[in-house]
Formats: sequence, C-alpha cells, structure tokens
Amino acid sequence: MVKLIKRCPEHVMGYKEFCQELYDNHVTYFRPTNPKYIDDDWFSRTKSWYEKKERGLVEGSPVSFHYWAIDNGRFIGEFQLRTDFPEKVMMEIGSIGYAVRVSEQGKGYGSEILRLGLQLAKQHGMRKVLLTINEKNKVSIHICEKLGGIWQDTIEAYNDAEGHHLLRRYWITLLR
Ligand SMILES: CC(C)(COP(=O)(O)OP(=O)(O)OC[C@H]1O[C@@H](n2cnc3c(N)ncnc32)[C@H](O)[C@@H]1OP(=O)(O)O)[C@@H](O)C(=O)NCCC(=O)NCCS
Repeated sequence: MVKLIKRCPEHVMGYKEFCQELYDNHVTYFRPTNPKYIDDDWFSRTKSWYEKKERGLVEGSPVSFHYWAIDNGRFIGEFQLRTDFPEKVMMEIGSIGYAVRVSEQGKGYGSEILRLGLQLAKQHGMRKVLLTINEKNKVSIHICEKLGGIWQDTIEAYNDAEGHHLLRRYWITLLR
C-alpha cells in the first residue's frame, strides 16, 4: 500500500532513481532535482532549505511541503503541496505538483498519490486546491477530473521546460 511520508535519509537513493528516470525520459511536466547533485551528503545539505520552504522563507518560492510516495519500501514518486495562493501558484505551478517514476506509471499510483495528497491538503487546513495542468498532459487531466477537479479556465503560460503552452486550471474542493 502506497503512503506519503516526509523526506527522510532512508529513501534518498530511491529519490535519486526517481529523478534519474524522469530526466532520462525528458519529462517536462514535473522538474525533479538534477540527479547528479544527489550524493551521500545531499539530504543534510538541503535539509534546512526544505525546512525554510515550509515556513515560506525562501525568496520567490511559495510555502511548500514535499512528500515522498513509498510502497513496500520502494520509492514510487513525489508529492508537493503549496498551501498559499500567491501569483506564482495561481498563474504557474498550482497548489500541487506530483510525479510517479516512469517505470511505475500506469499502475494506479498517480491516482492514489493525488487522493492521499488531497487528504494531506485537508490536514493542512486547506478548503480547496488549484491544479494547473498543461493542456497536452492528458493523463494528469484525466486523474484530476476523476478526483473531482472542476475546470475554471485555460490560460497562456511559459516556462523553460515546456516553452509557451496552454495551462488548464482546475479547482478541487476538499469536503470536510
Ligand atoms: C501524471 C502521472 C503522475 C500519472 O501517474 P500514473 O501512475 O501513470 O497514473 P495512474 O496509473 O493512476 O492513472 C493513469 C490514468 O490515465 C489514464 N490514461 C492513460 N493514458 C491516457 C490518455 N492518453 N488520455 C486520457 N487518459 C489516459 C489511464 O486510463 C488511467 O486512468 P484510470 O485509472 O481512470 O483508468 C504520471 O504520468 C507522471 O508522473 N507524469 C509526469 C509528471 C506529471 O505530469 N505530473 C502532473 C503534473 S500536473
């Protein structure tokens, strides 16, 4: 059974494999850490930076929490939650970023990670989350709609990885 846990030293090498698979497959919808930077010291080196992100103390970065998806000890994917709604969240990255390692896609993990992630969002006190999804990302659109996403609009967006693209914005209301 897959579960979402806080980042921890035990799963750093699994995280590196996950990042490597996304890199090797040129996934643009989710940009992982460059795997070449993930070494034995990486966790301790980056710990305070991630803690600062959780407190909104990293300039230009919204308050964000990073979770790892683990199934029976195997690293499956990542789930990121942004709990505020600054411009960057509203117009670019949304409340949620998540990905499944390429070798484990198509097995139901993505749907389960988003489902668990919505529960976490509720625990963080959120009443709704915004998902921003590249119009071409049919799998992510399907999962979002399956889990209750209501389309608000489609806007023009740009980032280095995806270039100019259309971004669908969906709200998911979190029922109490
Ligand atoms: C999006 C992502 C997390 C999905 O993970 P996954 O483990 O493959 O997802 P699941 O196996 O739970 O579900 C895939 C669903 O897409 C459906 N699907 C597959 N191809 C599809 C297509 N071309 N069009 C529409 N739906 C499609 C499947 O039928 C399945 O739906 P179902 O369970 O209702 O039958 C994964 O593809 C990924 O990591 N992508 C790169 C990062 C990314 O896009 N993140 C989201 C950014 S908004």
